[in-house]
Amino acid sequence: MNLKWNLALALVAVLCLDRGYGSGLDLDGVSGPEMGLQLAAHLAPNTPAKIQEDAALAVISRVIGGRASQLFQVQVNKGMALRSFKINMLEDSRILLAGWDGVSVCKAFHHYLKYVLNKDVDWFKMRIELPTNIQLPNVTIGSTSASPIIYHQNVCTWSYSFAWWGFEQWRRHLDWMALMGISLTIAPVQEAIWAEVYTEMGLSPEEIENHLAGPAFQAWQRMGNIRGWAGPLKPEWRRLQVLLQQEILAAQRNLGMSVALPAFAGHVPRALKRLYPNSTFMEVQRWNHFPDRYCCGFFVEPTEPLFNQIAESFLSRVVSTYGSNHIFFCDPFNELEPPVAKPDYMRSTAAAIFESMRGIDTEAIWLLQGWMFVKNPFWTTDMAKAFLTAVPSGRILVLDLQSEQFPQYELTHSYFGQPFIWCMLHNFGGTLGMFGSAKLINSGIETARRMPKSSVVGTGITPEGIGQNYVMYSLALERGWSDSSLDLDSWFRNFSHTRYGVNDERLERAWVLLKNSVYSFHGLQKMRGQYVVTRRPSFTQDPFTWYNASEVLDAWHLLLSSRAIIPLEDDRYDIYEHDLIDITRQFLQISADQLYINLKSAYRKRQVLRFEYLSSKLMNLFDDMEQILASGRNFLLGSWLEQAKRAAPNAVDQSNFEFNARNQITAWGPEGQILDYACKQWSGLVRDYYMPRWSLFLEDVTVALHSQRPFNGTAFKQKVSQRIELPFSNKTDIYPLKPIGNTWLISNNIFETWKVYSKDSQFLHNNRLSIPRKLGPK
Ligand SMILES: *[C@@H]1O[C@H](CO)[C@@H](O)[C@H](O)[C@H]1NC(C)=O
Ligand SMILES: *[C@@H]1O[C@H](CO)[C@@H](O)[C@H](O)[C@H]1NC(C)=O
Ligand SMILES: *[C@@H]1O[C@H](CO)[C@@H](O)[C@H](O)[C@H]1NC(C)=O
Ligand SMILES: *[C@@H]1O[C@H](CO)[C@@H](O)[C@H](O)[C@H]1NC(C)=O
Ligand SMILES: *[C@@H]1O[C@H](CO)[C@@H](O)[C@H](O)[C@H]1NC(C)=O
Ligand SMILES: *[C@@H]1O[C@H](CO)[C@@H](O)[C@H](O)[C@H]1NC(C)=O
Repeated sequence: MNLKWNLALALVAVLCLDRGYGSGLDLDGVSGPEMGLQLAAHLAPNTPAKIQEDAALAVISRVIGGRASQLFQVQVNKGMALRSFKINMLEDSRILLAGWDGVSVCKAFHHYLKYVLNKDVDWFKMRIELPTNIQLPNVTIGSTSASPIIYHQNVCTWSYSFAWWGFEQWRRHLDWMALMGISLTIAPVQEAIWAEVYTEMGLSPEEIENHLAGPAFQAWQRMGNIRGWAGPLKPEWRRLQVLLQQEILAAQRNLGMSVALPAFAGHVPRALKRLYPNSTFMEVQRWNHFPDRYCCGFFVEPTEPLFNQIAESFLSRVVSTYGSNHIFFCDPFNELEPPVAKPDYMRSTAAAIFESMRGIDTEAIWLLQGWMFVKNPFWTTDMAKAFLTAVPSGRILVLDLQSEQFPQYELTHSYFGQPFIWCMLHNFGGTLGMFGSAKLINSGIETARRMPKSSVVGTGITPEGIGQNYVMYSLALERGWSDSSLDLDSWFRNFSHTRYGVNDERLERAWVLLKNSVYSFHGLQKMRGQYVVTRRPSFTQDPFTWYNASEVLDAWHLLLSSRAIIPLEDDRYDIYEHDLIDITRQFLQISADQLYINLKSAYRKRQVLRFEYLSSKLMNLFDDMEQILASGRNFLLGSWLEQAKRAAPNAVDQSNFEFNARNQITAWGPEGQILDYACKQWSGLVRDYYMPRWSLFLEDVTVALHSQRPFNGTAFKQKVSQRIELPFSNKTDIYPLKPIGNTWLISNNIFETWKVYSKDSQFLHNNRLSIPRKLGPK
C-alpha cells in the first residue's frame, strides 16, 4: 500500500478511536472468577454494536470471500453472557452467529468453520475456499469462554515477528486473533511520542537518535535493556509506526478487543542528566555484555518528582494519540535487577508507577509481564508481595508469562490475590524447532483454575516469535476458551482433518505421533532453539531429545505417503507442503545432533577417517536442509530481508534496515552478544551462514587431527566470528523470494537418504550414530 493510502487510513483510524471511558471498578473483596468478569467488562471498549457487527462480518468476508453475508448473519448482543456465542439457523437458511462482542462473533464463526465445516485457518493460510454449492448444516451451538480474558502477544513479538509488517499483514493477523477469541493485547509503539517528550524537555535530535535503537531492536530499548543499538531510528519511520499502530488499534477496538498502552517505567536517555544535573539517576546494569555505547541507560526513581513529570507528559500524549481502554503496561525490571533490595523500596516503586497511571486515568489497570519473577532469586516472597500489594486490589493484572514451564502463581500465592493470566510462552526468538508441551497446556490451565483462592482471570499466549508450531497455539487458545480438559488424541486427529481438509487415518496417525514425540516436552531445560545446526560449532554442546526420534520418522513417512489424498482445492496442498518441509527440517536437525555426538566421540578417540566420514555426512545434511527449505515460501531468508528493505521509509535507510534484519537473526549485537538467539533454519541462512561455519570448524579439526595437535577452540571462535558471523550483518546479497523445486520429491529423496540412520538401534539408545564398519577404525 502506498504512503498516501496509509495516511488516509490512519486519519480514519484516529477519528474512529474509542475512548471507552467505562463504568467505575471496585474490586476490593471480589475474588476469582467474579474478578475476571468484572475486569473483562471494565476493559472492553464501548464500541457500538453495529460497528462490531460490521467489523466481524468484514473478518468473515476476508476469510471466505464475498458470499459471507449470504451465508451468515452476525449479531452483537451485550445482553448475552460475557464472551459467549450462539450459533443457529435462520428461516432463510443463513447461519446466525450471535455473540457478546465482535470477537465472540468471530470465535463463533471459527467454531462453525472448524467443527461443522471441517476447515481451519492458520497464520499462513487465512483464506478458505468454500464449495460454491455449499449447504450450510443446521446446528444449534452455544458456548461461553471459561476465560473472561484471552490474551495474545509478548513485547518481543513486535521485534522478532512484526518488525517489518505493514497493515496488510497486520490485517490478516488481527483477523486470526479475532477468530481465536483473543480479547486483550498490547500496542507498544511509542518512539514518536518519546521524541516529542524529550524534545520538549530540551534534548537535541542527536541525543534522541543516540538513544533510540534500530527498527529490529525496539522491544529491548523500550524495556531499558539496550540503547541506540543499530540505530538511528529516523523521525519519518517513527511517525509511520505511530500511524500504523493507530490503524491496528482502530481495527482491534472495532471488534471489541481491549488494548493495553505503554506507560512509563523509569528508563530514560543518559543525556537527560545534562538537563537535570540535580536529579538522581540510577545507571541500569549491563545487559548481555553490551558495550557502554549501547547499554546502561538511566533509570529515574519512580519516587522522584522528575518521574511524575515525565510520566504525565508521556502518558497524556499516549492517551491522546491512541485513546484508552484503561489498561497500561510497563515493566521496570525486565531482566534488570532493581537497584535496591528492600521490600519498602519495591512497595514505593510500584505505588509510584501505579499512581502515575491513575493520574492520567482514574480507572487505570496496570498490566505487568511476570517475567521478572521467573527463576530470579532477587524476587523473594517478601519482595514480590511488597511490589504486588502496593497496588490496590485488582488494579494490577499479571501475565504469568511462561505458565507451561515456570508457573509463578503458585510461588506467589496466586499473586497475593491480584488477578493473573495463565500464559503459554512456548517460543523464544522466533526459532523454528518443532516442540511443545501439549499435556502440560491441557492440565496446567485446569490446575490454575482449581487452585484454592485462585485469582486467574484468563489465559493467553506470549510467544517471542510466531510462525512456527501453529498446532500449539491453536491448542492453547482452544483450551483457554474451554472449561474442561480436551481429549488430546481426539483433538490432534481433528487437527489433521481440518488442516488438510480430509479425514484420513494416516494423517491422523502422523499427528498423534507428533503429539507423542515433539509435542510431549515436559522437562525444565530451556528450549531456546539451540540446535547443533544453528549453533556456533564447538565440542562443548550437549544436544538432547526427550522423544523417540523414530516416531518423527514414522510421522514423516505417513505424511509423505498421503500425497495423493490431499485435496487440491482450497490450497490445502500448500499447508501440506509447509508441514512436509517442517518435518524434513526437523528430522535433519535431529540427525545433525546425532552426527555431532559421533563427531565428538571420533575426535576424542582421534579416529581421523571416521571423523572425515561423519564430516562429509554433516555437509550433505546441510545441502539437503538448504534444498528442502528453498522449496517453501515460509522458509526463505529472502522474504525476511526483502520485507525489511521494503519497510524502510526511503532508499537511504534501506541498508540500515537490512543490517537490522540480518543482525537480529545472527550476531544479535555488535560483537555477537546474544549470538544465534533468534536463529532461523531458512534457505539462504543455512547455505551462507550455518553451513560455512560448520565447514570451517570441521576443516580446522581435521587439520588438527592430521597434525596430531589439539584443536584450539579459542582460536576458532575468533576466526569464525571475524570471518562469518559478524560480516554477515553487513552483507547485501539478494536471496530468492520464490520457492524453488518440488517439495514432495525433495522431501522424499531426503527421506530415502536419511531414514537408515534411525533404523540403527544405536541411534535410539546409545546416542550413537552407527556408520559402516569398514569406515570406523577402532
Ligand atoms: C434447524 O433445526 C432446528 C432443530 O432441529 C429446527 O427447529 C429448525 O426448524 C431448523 N431450521 C431450519 C431452517 O431448517
Ligand atoms: C542544581 O543545584 C545547584 C546547587 O544547588 C544550583 O546552583 C543549580 O541551579 C541547580 N541546577 C538546576 C538545573 O536546577
Ligand atoms: C473431534 O471432532 C469430533 C467430531 O466433530 C467431535 O465429536 C470431538 O469432540 C472432537 N474432539 C475434540 C477434542 O475437540
Ligand atoms: C520408538 O518408536 C518406535 C515406533 O514408532 C518403536 O518401534 C520403538 O520401540 C520406540 N523406541 C523406544 C525406545 O521407545
Ligand atoms: C589458542 O589460540 C589462542 C588465540 O589465537 C592463543 O592465544 C592460544 O595460545 C592458543 N592455545 C594453544 C594451546 O595453542
Ligand atoms: C559493519 O558496518 C559497520 C558500519 O556500517 C562497521 O562499523 C562495522 O565494523 C562493520 N562490521 C564488520 C564485521 O565488517
